[in-house]
Amino acid sequence: MPGPSAPPPPPSRSIPPAPRLPPPPPPPGSRRKPTLDPGRDEEPSAREHQASPPPVSQRSASTGHTVALAVSGSIAAYKAAEVARLLIKDGARVLPIMTRSAQQFLGATTLSGLCGERVHEDMWDPAFAGELHVDLARRADVIALIPATADLLARLAQGRADDLVTALALCAKGPVIAAPAMHPRMWAHPAVQRNVALLLEQGRVELIGPVDGDVASGESGLGRMADPAEIAAAILARATRRDLTPLKIVITAGPTVEDFDPVRFLGNRSTGKMGFAIAERAAARGADVTLIAGPVTLPTPYGVKRIDVRSALQMRGALWQAMGPDLGKADALIMSAAVADYRPASEHATKMKRDGNALTLELVPNPDLLAEVGAMRGERSPVLVGFAVETDTDDRVVAAALNKLETKRVDLVVANHARDSFGKDDNRATLVTRGSADVLGVLTKRDLADRILDRVATMSHR
Ligand SMILES: Cc1cc2nc3c(=O)[nH]c(=O)nc-3n(C[C@H](O)[C@H](O)[C@H](O)COP(=O)(O)O)c2cc1C
Repeated sequence: MPGPSAPPPPPSRSIPPAPRLPPPPPPPGSRRKPTLDPGRDEEPSAREHQASPPPVSQRSASTGHTVALAVSGSIAAYKAAEVARLLIKDGARVLPIMTRSAQQFLGATTLSGLCGERVHEDMWDPAFAGELHVDLARRADVIALIPATADLLARLAQGRADDLVTALALCAKGPVIAAPAMHPRMWAHPAVQRNVALLLEQGRVELIGPVDGDVASGESGLGRMADPAEIAAAILARATRRDLTPLKIVITAGPTVEDFDPVRFLGNRSTGKMGFAIAERAAARGADVTLIAGPVTLPTPYGVKRIDVRSALQMRGALWQAMGPDLGKADALIMSAAVADYRPASEHATKMKRDGNALTLELVPNPDLLAEVGAMRGERSPVLVGFAVETDTDDRVVAAALNKLETKRVDLVVANHARDSFGKDDNRATLVTRGSADVLGVLTKRDLADRILDRVATMSHR
């Protein structure tokens, strides 16, 4: 496997010329007016558009991924052994865990024999030196709760952590997938449905199934666990999803800083975490990624080509270089950088001395990089994603995003609040397209990156 590419040197201070500016915008009426009418979605939500993963039998031999497979106390627990077998057959490493109740249904020997791993059952395991739930979460690319009982769903919805499985789920660094299994009347119970709705709203647990079919009691209905092959394929797809091959994606990240003397600059609070998360996930999902980064302290994600820049003008130069003068070198551009709107009119060659008087800095506007690309690009290519960071109410943030969509000819705007976003590992965003505003709960930036990339995948295949 190739190692991470060494970052090329930052562009020199001479700014590469921007190409000639864009042809006139398309004739009025050629693009739809924004509307939030959900019945007229042009781009249905990512949830609706997630491609079904291929059947396990059609997948290639080795995934190299680690799955923590936690089994809870449903009569369907025996099917977890089949899920484990399919994951292992596909090259995944499976770390088996069981709740206390699960041990009534399935022998630990079955799982340890299949997985070649010790089964973990107890958070208080004296044989383990350290924090077992933290260690398992660190090792797992995906945590799979197979099957998930009504009781486990309730504990997850409440954020409890009083056993190994719930503590592990709370500590997850990646996707958590649960396959509910229970009697149809249990599944239909308002308490269970309320817990499910809460989990979906929190956005930290993805559910597969249940499906309609026969259950252990001999009755039939919605509550049967999804098919083990479908579950295994979904787990692998969440771990692996090379669905962005062979897209070329250019991503901007971090702040730009605008120097006004050799030691001082104007900057902003962006840390680059969002853009770097997008770059990491895009590369993991198979895209050819170029990351144009303002000054940040983050390591280059694996497999990502990185170009370091400092100012908005440098970012503009690097951007056009990466996209090509006709934008033909990229299938998608994701502009998550907080590009400075203004820069000092001039830069002093030497440090400006303090003289006790008020100082007025003259600022001039920077080019609007997103608008430039939007005006230049064809009707749909490359896919263009912008970010709108505001300090206003939710409604105004979405309104600003809609305005950006239209005026800058962007396909998707990720609208978020400065207070939820800058410097944080989580974010609370709304994905705004023409016709839809998909309000996401608080997500890790990694998960939000995946939601954005799901949209990019959909839009680049239209
Ligand atoms: C024979 C039997 C079958 C059960 N099957 C299910 C089931 O399919 N789904 C479910 O949610 N609970 C089922 N339960 C109840 C759970 O085992 C019980 O709620 C338990 O506390 C779940 O613990 P856990 O979530 O920690 O594994 C079953 C119980 C018994 C005795």
